[in-house]
Amino acid sequence: MTASSAQDDDDLLSELRALLAGEPDPIANAANTAALVFARLPRLNWAGFYFLQGETLVLGPFQGQPACTRIPLGRGVCGTAAARQETILVPDVHAFPGHIVCDTASLSEIVVPFNVAGKLSGVLDIDSPEANRFGAAEQALLEAVAALYVEACEVA
Ligand code: SME
Repeated sequence: MTASSAQDDDDLLSELRALLAGEPDPIANAANTAALVFARLPRLNWAGFYFLQGETLVLGPFQGQPACTRIPLGRGVCGTAAARQETILVPDVHAFPGHIVCDTASLSEIVVPFNVAGKLSGVLDIDSPEANRFGAAEQALLEAVAALYVEACEVA
């Protein structure tokens, strides 16, 4: 049930490092990060960013079906992960109280919040049309992806 081998994960992270190298623009980097994750990880139907504006997460670059534009902090998986400032792995979205349906195909999800310059800045979200698609390996991979994204954006 794993997404990929450890070698695949290393390859994805190397490719991402190269894509982001020398580019600090947060939107350009989010667009390429979402596109790479969506292209490389099998069995996803959505991969993308929400950025925090005040108390609301606002949709950023993504791949997949059109999605909800605004998610209040504390709402849904994204808003809950952001409010708690911790990753949330949802094996079955129907079992997550308050899950926000953007694409009815989504059955499992991981949301990783990230800080830029020490401040909560947004979340990285991936969805799968398979229940139980994600485990600890995918969580670690997505957290590493978010860390590389943050590192690139923090370079002045
Ligand atoms: N399911 C998310 C909403 C975002 S989409 O999955 C793209 C949530 O409950 O926050």
